Order: sequence, then C-alpha cells, then structure tokens
Amino acid sequence: MSHRHLTGSDLHYGYERGVEVLRGADLDVAPGSRVALLGANGSGKSTLLQCLAGTLRPDAGDVSLDGRPIDRSRRGLRAHRQAVQLVFQDPDDQLFSADVAEDVAYGPVNLGLSATEVRERVDRALDLLHITNLRNRPTHQLSFGQRKRVAIAGAVAMRPCVLLLDEPTAGIDPCGVDALFDTLADLERAGTTVALSTHDTALALEWADSVAVMSAGVTRQDRPSIIFSDSGLLQQAHLKAPWLTTLARDLVLDGILPPDAAPTTPEQLRSALRSAAVDRPRTVPANSVMP
Ligand SMILES: Nc1ncnc2c1ncn2[C@@H]1O[C@H](COP(=O)(O)OP(=O)(O)O)[C@@H](O)[C@H]1O
Ligand SMILES: [Mg+2]
Repeated sequence: MSHRHLTGSDLHYGYERGVEVLRGADLDVAPGSRVALLGANGSGKSTLLQCLAGTLRPDAGDVSLDGRPIDRSRRGLRAHRQAVQLVFQDPDDQLFSADVAEDVAYGPVNLGLSATEVRERVDRALDLLHITNLRNRPTHQLSFGQRKRVAIAGAVAMRPCVLLLDEPTAGIDPCGVDALFDTLADLERAGTTVALSTHDTALALEWADSVAVMSAGVTRQDRPSIIFSDSGLLQQAHLKAPWLTTLARDLVLDGILPPDAAPTTPEQLRSALRSAAVDRPRTVPANSVMP
C-alpha cells in the first residue's frame, strides 16, 4: 500500500429533496498528511466522509483519487472502497460476524485472497490494534471501545491507501486514545494516509497537520495554527479553541511569550516558556537578600 491523494471538491448532498447538508464542501487529504475534520454535531462530517469513501453519491461535485474522479461503475466503486476505507462512527453499523477474527477477515475474504493471505492480514490487523486476545470472542460480548477497535481492524485488514475514521476517539478512554494514535502512526509508516473527524479541537491541534472546519455545509481547511486563531470561524462553527491556543494567546498578550509563539503540544508550550525565561532573566526584588 502507498499513500494516495484523496480530494472532494464542491460537494453537494442532501438526504431529503430541498435540504442540502453539503453545500459545496471540499476536503483535501494529501498523501501522508494528517487531516482532522471538525464540526459541531449534525454539521455534516459523517456525510462528507461517506461521500469521500464512495458509500454516498454526491448530488454534485467531484471525489478524486490521485486526480482521477471516481469511476462510479460497480467495479470502479469497489476499487475505490478498497483503497479508501471508512470506519463508521458507530461500530455496530459495521460489525455483523459471529466472532472477531471472522469479522476482520470479512473484507479480505471478499477480495478473493487465499486463506493464508487472509490469515496473515487478520493476524497483523489484530496485532496492530492490540486485540489479538479478543480473536475468538463473540463481537456482541465486547465493550464499546473493544468493538470500535475491531471495526478499525477490519478496515486495516483491507490495507487501504487512505483510512477515514469517523469520530474514532468518541467513547474511548484516554489510554485507549493514546494506543489508537500509536497504531495510526504505525499505519502511516506502512503507507496509509489517515483523516479523521472529531469535535475535539485539542486533539486536532496536537495530531493534525491540516484541519478542515465544517459549518453551514461548507468547509474551510488550513494549517491548525491558522484555523484555531480564527475565533470568528470557530464561533460560527460552534467550536471552542483548544485550551493550549487560548493559553498561548493570553501569554502573548501578557508579554510572557513572543508574538510568533504558536505551540501545538504541551511540550512545545513548556519549551517556549523556558526560552522566554532564559531570554528575560528574572528580576530580583529590591528587598531580597543577595547570597
Ligand atoms: N440517513 C439520514 N437521513 C436523513 N437525514 C440524515 C441522515 N444522516 C444524517 N442526516 C442529517 O444530515 C445532517 C448531517 O448529519 P451528519 O453528517 O451525521 O453530521 P455529523 O457527522 O457532523 O454529526 C444532520 O442534520 C442529520 O440529521
Ligand atoms: Mg457524525
């Protein structure tokens, strides 16, 4: 598998006649980039991801892979859905086999792969998602977080070039989220480009190198530092700036950090504060006793 360039341009989609959910939405998932799609509940994130994955057909606009629009024949859609895997927000929309291994094997079996290749893909996917111990468990007995990992493993077993994850961190505990992002880094190294939807702006700031904000059926996509410093855009999209951006901005206003400081992780904030402290030696109060 290798990174590929997935784009959606000027997409329109409505579930009901006359009610458009997407009104000219774009998304650019460049090869090897990390794209976070942000938006309030009901803003159209899942709809946009389904259009990009080829599971919904937009009323207008183009979805392209490496610059070529999707071939909407049965064969073309099959090829697109194999290269671009979407993991639904709710794992129960995706899991239907009796046990975990069978569910993860479903896609590879449908590709007509040999039993050995299927087994190898299932083993690798279970290992990547740290769920080898669940291999023979009935899926309906698993916790929500476990079912979510099984659903992701099923997509990973298809060895996609682009993996679209719809709210992958919703309902997962903090350690589970860390483990998931370690897994995503492994997948990226193996040639899969990852885009995900979330309404967690802090997570998007820390993880993504490109952020798209969905509001009123359209998207605006840019670098995280640009998006998160646009308070008007965030307000319009009913999103809150990440705490790190707000704190860094206040520290700039207080003259503690230089105006160009734009930390995206707590480590970067700490390092910026350290540099600022070194650049500006502490003033010693007049009444202090010098050693
Ligand atoms: N299958 C459907 N039938 C009718 N309306 C739908 C369907 N799925 C989503 N919608 C509507 O489309 C809008 C966008 O939904 P969705 O894409 O799920 O938003 P998000 O993922 O950002 O929460 C919402 O108003 C939602 O009620
Ligand atoms: Mg959704």
